[in-house]
Formats: sequence, structure tokens, C-alpha cells
Amino acid sequence: MLQETITRDRPVGSWQDYVVPQCWEAFTPDDHAVWDLLFMRQVKLLGSRVVSDFFDGIDLLKLTHPGVPDVEGLNAILEPRTGWRTVAVPGLVPDDIFFAMLSERVFPVGNFIRTRDQLDYLEAPDCFHDMFGHIPMLAHHNYAEMTRHVGELGAAAIGAGQGHKAARLYWHSVEFGLAREHGEIKILGAGLASSFGEAHFSLESDQVERLPFTVERAVNTHYKHDAFQPRYLVSESLEQTVAEVLRLTPAELLAL
Ligand SMILES: [Fe+2]
Repeated sequence: MLQETITRDRPVGSWQDYVVPQCWEAFTPDDHAVWDLLFMRQVKLLGSRVVSDFFDGIDLLKLTHPGVPDVEGLNAILEPRTGWRTVAVPGLVPDDIFFAMLSERVFPVGNFIRTRDQLDYLEAPDCFHDMFGHIPMLAHHNYAEMTRHVGELGAAAIGAGQGHKAARLYWHSVEFGLAREHGEIKILGAGLASSFGEAHFSLESDQVERLPFTVERAVNTHYKHDAFQPRYLVSESLEQTVAEVLRLTPAELLAL
């Protein structure tokens, strides 16, 4: 996930500098058991609350296989399909590095998983958030292309000193977006799809605002990175989100 404030005090390196070996063999039996617990709990919770393409991606990428997925096995299916691949990182990467990765169809996944006593509280996104939440939708061709475009927009916005605009667009679509499907509001964003508490809160709470998604509203809507969102943006469909974001040029983003 992105932090709202972009800070760095050194020259920009290349995204490859942030990649580490996943060391899949270092995951313990308990780590794999935590993945299985989270996976089963979340699949049951999501049910019909998530866009149907999400579960298509779960099946296509064989994420139903028990245990923490290994990035090589995942990439062997994902890369031939949409050109995307995952790389392991030790934690949050800076926003400029993150957007540079997305622009090259590379998705960073944490090389760690939460512990059993942290099932619902995370200081930094772990491999369950990254792999369960994000990767299934990267098997969807149009969504995958939208995510790559967000990376390009982000790189351009940061270069122009307006990274917050791309961060908000990303947040209100890729992380916390909602979308209608067959007339019902469904979860689209990975932050919701992977969250036990916020998945149903986002859809069912009467304490939040749900406003129509437009790229202009997304860019101008603040977000919280340490609490449930006070408002969610709802697109008419997954396709509307994809089309609106793909149409947006860097110059248009900066003008919003
Ligand atoms: Fe995320």
C-alpha cells in the first residue's frame, strides 16, 4: 500500500535494488498454516461480495493450492497470461519505486506473512495482502493493463512533484475501489478483498459514504492508510474503472 506522504532523502535508485529472494523454503509450517487459515476465512467471507473476476483469478493462478505461494510458480502462470510477474520485497517500497515497478508489470509482494496473533492487524502489507488481494486481478487482461497504466501515471506525477494525485487514484481504485456487478455493489480493491474487517464494513456499514467513482473524484478524495476508509468510490462496473483510468493521460492527471 502507499503512504499518503511521500518522503525520501536520497537519489532515486532502480526498483531492482529493492528486490530480495523470496526464500520460500524459509516459511515455516506455521507460516503456511497461517496462510491457509487466512485464505479459508477470507474466501468464505468474500463469497459473492467481490467481483467475479477475482475468483476467476484465484482459480487460474492455482491460489487454492495450500500454503504460501512461491513467486516462481505464480509467475509461471501469470507472466505468459498478462505479462505481469511478482517479485519479493522485504516490506513497503517507496512510492516512486512502487510506481516504477507497476509501469513495468512487476508487482512487489512481501517476503513475510503475519503471525497468528496479528491476523487482523498489520503495520505493513504482508504476502497475504499482496498475493491474495492483488495478484488474482492481475490475471484479468484489462485490469492488468489498467494497473500498468497507473504505474506510468504515478511515475509522471511524482516526477512533477504531485505524487499524491496518483496515490489517491491508486488508492480509490486498486486498493479500496468498489464496483457494481449485475446491479450489486462488489469489492474491487485489494485492500478490501484481503481484509477480514473492512470487506463487509465497506459494503454494509451505514457509517460511510459511497460516492460514484470518477477519476476526478478519486484524485481529489483523501484517504486513510491506518484505519477503515470514511468513504468509498463505487464505479458502474469493473470495466468503467478500467476505461476511465486507461483514458487518463499524465497531463490530465496533473490538471485534476
Ligand atoms: Fe496493496
